[in-house]
Amino acid sequence: SIKGYEQEIEKAATSEELYQIKVKYLGKKGLISGLNKQLKDVPNEDKKEFGMKLGELRNGFEALFNSKETEIAKSELDAKLEKEALDITMEGFPLSAGSQHPIMSIYYEIADIFGSMGFEVAVGPEVELDRYNFEMLNIPQEHPARDMQDTFYISDEVVMRTHTSPVQARVMESKEPPIKIIAPGKVYRCDYDITHTPMFHQVEGLLVDKNVTFADLKGTLTTFIQRMFGSGVPVRFRPSFFPFTEPSAEVDMGCTICGSKGCRVCKGTGWIEILGSGMCNDELYRHAGYEPGIYSGFAFGMGIERIAMLKYGIGDLRSFFENNLKFLRQF
Ligand code: PHE
Repeated sequence: SIKGYEQEIEKAATSEELYQIKVKYLGKKGLISGLNKQLKDVPNEDKKEFGMKLGELRNGFEALFNSKETEIAKSELDAKLEKEALDITMEGFPLSAGSQHPIMSIYYEIADIFGSMGFEVAVGPEVELDRYNFEMLNIPQEHPARDMQDTFYISDEVVMRTHTSPVQARVMESKEPPIKIIAPGKVYRCDYDITHTPMFHQVEGLLVDKNVTFADLKGTLTTFIQRMFGSGVPVRFRPSFFPFTEPSAEVDMGCTICGSKGCRVCKGTGWIEILGSGMCNDELYRHAGYEPGIYSGFAFGMGIERIAMLKYGIGDLRSFFENNLKFLRQF
């Protein structure tokens, strides 16, 4: 019977189902609309009653339909809101900030120590003239020291600097003593194995003034090493050769290597070289245009990676440059 709509509306669960019911009864070909069309064929005396019944039927349908429509709209909205709800108590993803590279941390430690002794920071170019990298440092053409350092040549006159020592020459050329500087930076040598990478970092030091002696060199470098590695660390100065210093000394420290598994005395002699140094060769003053016989001074150079390896107990130099976050996050 046409009263079936009551049950149908009652059972409708979605607005789509409800809409289909509306079509079925009130649509153009709907059941109630069909009755409307029959009205004209009803005998006149019955028309009034038929019309009233039809009106009631339509009103009944619409009342039921509207209340169901409100009910479904509400429950559908509730479901939608529930589904889209934002759980503001949910934990977010942690944002990881970058951190300082261990080479930089060690450099800042070095710079702090020399800074506290009154050294200032100077810099020079990484792409350097042969003149500063070699000539001015008393390393002429054909000098065997040029082979000692496997140089990357850009052209006959231009090289990737093989050490930070050219900054010495540049600073001396630009000013008269007193000079008291460190010069950090990248240096380049054509070499690659467990203890060599084609790019690494050095810190140069230069002090030129009147009456500077070898004792000043020893005192300065001993202080540096003991501030860096501990006040009890033994330090030894061993005669050596560099074309730009005379006399020259390599500086060793008694080594204990400390890592995550504790500390151990390093292999071999128990000493490890960490610095090259010496009293500035008079040739450098001559190149700088200083009047002879007035000034004396010392210079030194060290590899930052080597110091970092000793300090952190790292075995493979190459790990500094592989950008492995597991490695880098340890520092
Ligand atoms: N430039 C030298 C090197 O790279 C180190 C050094 C610097 C030695 C200053 C003496 C004085 O090996």
